[in-house]
Parts: sequence; C-alpha cells; structure tokens
Amino acid sequence: MPEKQLSGEVYYPKQQIIDHANAKCQDLYEFAKKDYVGFWEKEANDLKWFKKWDRVLDDSKKPFYKWFVGGKTNIAYNCLDVHTETYRRNKLALIWEGEKGESQSYSYFALRRDTCRFSNILRSLGVKKGDRVTLYMGRIPELMIGMLACARIGAIHSVVYGGFSVEALHERLEDSQSKVLIVSDGAYQRGKIVPLKQIADEALIRAATVESVLVVKRTGESINMEAGRDMWYHELMALPIAGNSCTIEEMDAEDPLFMLYTSGTTGKPKAILHTHGGYMVGIYATLKYVFDIHEDDRYWCAADPGWITGHSYIVYGPLLNGTTSFMYEGAPTHPYPNRWWQMIDKYGINILYTAPTAIRGLMRFGDAWPNRHDLSSLRLLGSVGEPINPEAWRWYYKTIGKEKCPIMDTWWQTETGMFMITPMPCVPLKPGSGTKPFPGLEMDIVDEEGKSVKPNEEGYLVIKTPWPSMLRSIWNDPDRYVNQYWSKFPGMYLTGDSARRDEDGYYWIIGRVDDVIKVSGYRLGTAEIESALVSHSSVAEAAAIGLPHELKGNAIHCFVILKAGFSKSDKLIEELRQHVGHEVGPIAKPEQIDVVDSLPKTRSGKIMRRVLKARALGLDPGNISTLEE
Ligand code: PRX
Repeated sequence: MPEKQLSGEVYYPKQQIIDHANAKCQDLYEFAKKDYVGFWEKEANDLKWFKKWDRVLDDSKKPFYKWFVGGKTNIAYNCLDVHTETYRRNKLALIWEGEKGESQSYSYFALRRDTCRFSNILRSLGVKKGDRVTLYMGRIPELMIGMLACARIGAIHSVVYGGFSVEALHERLEDSQSKVLIVSDGAYQRGKIVPLKQIADEALIRAATVESVLVVKRTGESINMEAGRDMWYHELMALPIAGNSCTIEEMDAEDPLFMLYTSGTTGKPKAILHTHGGYMVGIYATLKYVFDIHEDDRYWCAADPGWITGHSYIVYGPLLNGTTSFMYEGAPTHPYPNRWWQMIDKYGINILYTAPTAIRGLMRFGDAWPNRHDLSSLRLLGSVGEPINPEAWRWYYKTIGKEKCPIMDTWWQTETGMFMITPMPCVPLKPGSGTKPFPGLEMDIVDEEGKSVKPNEEGYLVIKTPWPSMLRSIWNDPDRYVNQYWSKFPGMYLTGDSARRDEDGYYWIIGRVDDVIKVSGYRLGTAEIESALVSHSSVAEAAAIGLPHELKGNAIHCFVILKAGFSKSDKLIEELRQHVGHEVGPIAKPEQIDVVDSLPKTRSGKIMRRVLKARALGLDPGNISTLEE
C-alpha cells in the first residue's frame, strides 16, 4: 500500500500484479528522477548497437535534440536478427487473424526471412537509404513486413492509414516524394471490401515521383495493373533475387526511420519524423515496463498500424521485446459483438490494448457477449487515444478484466512516439486519469504565462525534459516544428492538450485546445475537412468543429455557406458528406452539415470555431472582442 491515502475513486494494484512486474516501479521513478539521461542510457544498453554512442543527449541546438549521438544501430536488426540468433528463433513473433476467420502465424525466423526477401526486392527496384516508401494497406502481416523491410535497408517508411482516401493519400505521396507505393488490392472491413488499389490509382494520377507500385493480393478482386509500374508482391517474393538473407544498413542513431502524417492546428497534415536510435529505446522501455512484458506473453494491441499506436506498439515495441504480438484485420463487432472476446479466448491473449471508443462500442452490446468466453488469460488492459469516461473504464475493469487486471490509460501522441503519462502495474489507478508521467519525464500544466497552475486548475499540458523517442522535426519544415511545438513557452514542448492535475498529482486530460478533432480516437484537422468541403463546386466557405458524441467521443459538425445558385437540400447535404468521405476518408464524414448565411470571423478573417462550438452547445462563447460585426 502507498503511504498516502489517495482521494476519489481509487483502485489499488493487486499483490499478484505487483509481484509479477518486471521492475519495481518505485525504483524506476527514483532512479530516473535523479538521472533521467542515465535512465535512458541503461535502457539503451539492453539493445544491440553496431557502435555505441559517444554521447547520450546532445541539447546544444535546442529544440533540435539529438540522442545517442555517434551510435550506430538498426531497429529492424533489434526487432528480428537479435532474436533469431537466440532460442527465440522459433518463437511466434506474430499471430494474425483475418476478418473472415483465417489465420497465419510467423516465427521470428519466418518474419526475418520474409523481411529480408522483401528488402532485397526493394533494393532491386533502386530503393536506397533515405528514399521514401509509402504503404497503404489493411491490417495484414505484409504491412509489418513492408515497414521492417524499409527499416532494414534504411528507407524511410510513410504509412497512410487504410481509412484515408484519394486526396489524403495523394497529398502524402506528393509531400513525401515517395519512390515506391506498397498497396493491397483491397481490405476487408465489416464484411465489405475497401478498394484500396482503386483509390490509390486515382491518387497516383498526380503523384509524379512514384516509380513502382507493389500490390499485395488480399481480396483477389479484379483490379487494374498498370504495365511497367504495378507488380504483384507474391510474384516478386518468389523471384530468385529475393534471397533469404539481406545485408543490413548500419544506421546512425539519428537517421530517420519513418515519417507519419498527422493533423495540426492549421493547413496541411504534417509528417512527423522519428529516428532509428532514440525512438527504439523509448518504445522498448515503455512497453516493457508499462505492459510488464514477459517471455511467455501474448500481447494484442488492437489499433491500426497506420497510426502511431500501431507503429510503436504493434510493430516495433513488441518485436523489440521479443514477445508474441497478435494482429486482427477486421472490425470488433463483425460478424457478432463477441468477435474480440472469442479471439482472446482462442489465442490466450494476456494483454489487451485498445481505445475508449472501441470499449464503448462493445459495452453497448451488454455483458452476455464477453461472458460467453473464457477471458481468464488476461492480465493487463490498456487504453489510448482519448480520455476514457469512468463508466467505460469500470465496465472494462469489471466485465473484461474481472477486477484483476489493471488498466494502463496511456496518454501520448504521434509526436511523442511513446507513452508519456501512464500508470505502471504498481500504480494505484483512478478511472479517467492516466496517473503520472513515465519515469524520466518532467511534465507540467501551465497558464498563459507559462507558470504552473494550482491543483485542479485547467491549463496547457507541456513537457519540460527531452525524451529519446521525441519527434526530431517535421519533414521538410523545421520552422513549423519550432513554431508549433516550442514557441509558445520557451523551453517547453506544447502538447496541444489542456489538462488539470489533482491534489495527488494525477493528470486528467480535458481535450485539445487547437483545431484538432479526435473522432473515435482518430486525429483529424478542421482544415482538412474544410478544404475538402470547399473543393466541392457548391461550397463557398466551410467551418468544422467537434461536438461531444456518446460513442465516438467527438463527432464532426460542419457549417457551410453555399455559392450563389445553389440551395439547401437533403440530397446536396448527403453529396457533401460523400465528397468529404471520398477526399479525406470515411472517418472524416461529417455527422451533420448546416447551411448558414455567415460564419463568425475575426476582423482578420479567421473563422472563430470556438464561437460556433459554444453556440452549438448553448454555452457562453467567452471573449468575443475580436469578432467582426
Ligand atoms: O488529445 C490527446 C489524445 O490524442 C492526442 C494525440 O493523438 P495522436 O497523435 O493521434 O496519437 C494517439 C495515440 C497515441 C493527444 O494530444 N490522447 C491520446 N491518448 C490519450 C489522449 N487523451 C486522453 N487520454 C489518453 N490516454
């Protein structure tokens, strides 16, 4: 028991969870508090380096921090080769189940072999260190193989979530100047086929840099294959040139590993850059301690590899820790709402990591569905992506975890690369709070002047110490990196979230303070939705806001001013919704679109979304002194 009695609804860790933990978390907090650089160095020493670093942290050119300076490594080597050189060679690295129920598994040996084969193919197509490769696929093993193959040869991967559509893909292909696109013919989702290759064909019309398109056959639907550009993955993988071994590129610790697009305050999505060295150390250590990874665990992160959660904690983190990762292709409720519980039972999953939106979505079907299955293999649960409402937390804890599995509510971002505010197995939990920063991190909540706020007061969530898996920059836009994250409060990283800290020092996330909307945990920018709307011939101006939604957390509401000659009709509204779906992706389809005559704007012409939101919620819009009459 901790010395201090905590306030509110508290769940203290069970003794068997504390005894099982692979580290005494109090020791970790204390060690890291005294010497956070030493803490990360110790973790880095668990991993293999072709050459050790000269310096752990170089902060001479803030905010362009460097970690493990002078070190040489490769994350793919640490994910695969280090295990195939040991008894883990025949251990399962990945178990996959398709939506239709078929399954596949890969030992570490097999995953390394297929990765090598694919690396050889990429090299033979002229892909070199530093080249960009875009991947646009469903949740299938080839996505993992593709990412690892890029990493092995030093190419920078850019995964575009399969739920995005034509314009979103086109923009990302063009901004990254990708040489190769790896795509699946289609993806299964709720029994239907999403025609990924067909969407890609449309996006490729204006993507001049793409020389080769490698197509993975998943659905077998007939697709267009453009001669000289499109090649089947399975045919390439069968060629003699795809040998079972492939020399590994020795990467500088600071060399980029991947770019991942995410939405920000204004304008186009930005590509966040992560590296081979520091990123690897951060996600290795956080996954090991937070989810208490053990040799015989079967771990399931139910996110999509197309988002940071999947990059860090489906692909790289589990493999670095030598655990067995489970991946499921489809929807949680297809064909029935017991699909997930059935797979936990079938594969003996020990750790489940998912998002509040999925928990709420499954909760509404009641307890009978999970109760039909044996969930006793579960030891730890996790949540990510948005604040979890206490009601969903309790259901997850009681009905799924049977009151024995602690819930790791992990707060982090595409930019942070790794968990930042999170419990560890020995930390007492409060439903809805991610508890405290991970060891080695100093975080704070500050007011407009950058001063710490008092307990329970709301303020800006900031990070005050550098961490190894921090973003290094924005692709091709270092100024935006500095302006967006490091200029509001000098020396502090601005997260874009507001939060409060209670009297026990527990953090409670309130939400975004910028123009980012979290829909079902997916991060979208108002700018992307608005520019999709104004690209329709009928729309003169548009504004998008997020309003609370019981299942999705937030839902997108839009306001449009129509061009002269167009008038409001149900048909037009539906056409606009479909248009956003086509341009950005189905996740961005507005819940509601209202036709209006004017939008509240500042005198300089900026739309005041805050005013729209307050009006829609019937709240006081606050300071409107800048509002144009
Ligand atoms: O607003 C916070 C919310 O998700 C944002 C980051 O989104 P993204 O970069 O897409 O990464 C999501 C997965 C790591 C944050 O700024 N968020 C993430 N996790 C939590 C959360 N809000 C509350 N609680 C969380 N556990």
